[in-house]
Amino acid sequence: MTRLWDRGEPLDRIVLEYTAGEDHLLDDRLVAYDVRASAAHAAMLHASGFLSSDDLAALGTTLARIGADHAAGAWRVSLEEEDCHTAIENRLVEACGEAGSRIHLGRSRNDQVLAALRLWLKDALETLAGAAGAAADALDGLAAAQGSLPMPGYTHLQRAMPSSVALWAGGFAAELRDDAAGLRAARRRADRNPLGSAAGYGVPVLELDRGHTTASLGFSEPHVPVTAVQLSRGKAEAGALFEAALLGQDLGRLAAELCLFATAEFGFVRLPPELTTGSSMLPQKRNPDLFELARGRSGEAAAALFEVLAVTAKLPSGYHRDLQLVKKALFRGMDGVLATARLMAHAVPLVRFDGPRMAAALDDDLRLAERAYRLVQESGVPFREAYRRVRRDEEA
Ligand code: ARG
Repeated sequence: MTRLWDRGEPLDRIVLEYTAGEDHLLDDRLVAYDVRASAAHAAMLHASGFLSSDDLAALGTTLARIGADHAAGAWRVSLEEEDCHTAIENRLVEACGEAGSRIHLGRSRNDQVLAALRLWLKDALETLAGAAGAAADALDGLAAAQGSLPMPGYTHLQRAMPSSVALWAGGFAAELRDDAAGLRAARRRADRNPLGSAAGYGVPVLELDRGHTTASLGFSEPHVPVTAVQLSRGKAEAGALFEAALLGQDLGRLAAELCLFATAEFGFVRLPPELTTGSSMLPQKRNPDLFELARGRSGEAAAALFEVLAVTAKLPSGYHRDLQLVKKALFRGMDGVLATARLMAHAVPLVRFDGPRMAAALDDDLRLAERAYRLVQESGVPFREAYRRVRRDEEA
């Protein structure tokens, strides 16, 4: 038996390819989490008196081996199996016989997929927050090494006031840390245990202990009532993608500004050869492709967020297969931002600011506000009067 619901009826290949789609490929990254959740579920069944100690031991050892084999590349979820939940259970039954066929008591793939996804998401949020922090650290390093170099600060892309590399880098670093905090806060919705809600309406007849899997999987509480669980699918994902979208945007703005600063017209930064690419026709070119791609990709998480919202909007309650589509958008959105955050952490320390070029761009008008403030401080005139005097002097 390949699919858990198989009735021996003929299978329509075209339908399978459409319904399973690339889900089996995406599920490869959920295998380790489903293994963990399955082991916790088995331990709960044992504690509740539905699984013998021998069966639990056999399931535990086999699950660990299934997980290790998968991590070593020894097997992959196949299209025929549809998803990682089926693939793991098939292997358990194959290796443990009857003990394997006892594990699905009191669960459904509907709560299983949520458990695996939430465990994945909690790790993914921490990884992405860490990568945002590493990019912020790289900006701190830039500020420590080249921060004292003065540069113009811009509003409307017009020179406005004196700034410095430290202020420029510090602003981005602070916002990236804010994004990291947002990502960590987004863990709340992923921190409730869906196991025990089964297909969406709980487990009849048996007294199963939802607190058991909640504690062993490190969730903060069981997700109640059971009918809330499927309604919530996509919300932890959307919250995570929203925070990832803010991070993507900050990284994209940083990249966009580096592209601008690297132009001959600005000339504020020089990119070392390893950060640039050449042109097939123009021998002199050194292009900042990596920052352009970081800029171009900065909307990936926002697009994924929109996709998740579009899938879940207007769905009646309970499980619907539409919900499977959330997974693909979630992985794509989170992966894209993670790749960009890691790229920026790698590239930022290699950027060199050109002190003389920036000093040449600091014309005297950038100090007019400063002159007006000095006038207020020294003579006590109202600011508006000081502003007028400074402008009059300037125009004279
Ligand atoms: N791959 C499915 C998903 O992500 C797993 C749950 C399948 N449940 C079902 N009733 N067909 O939603």
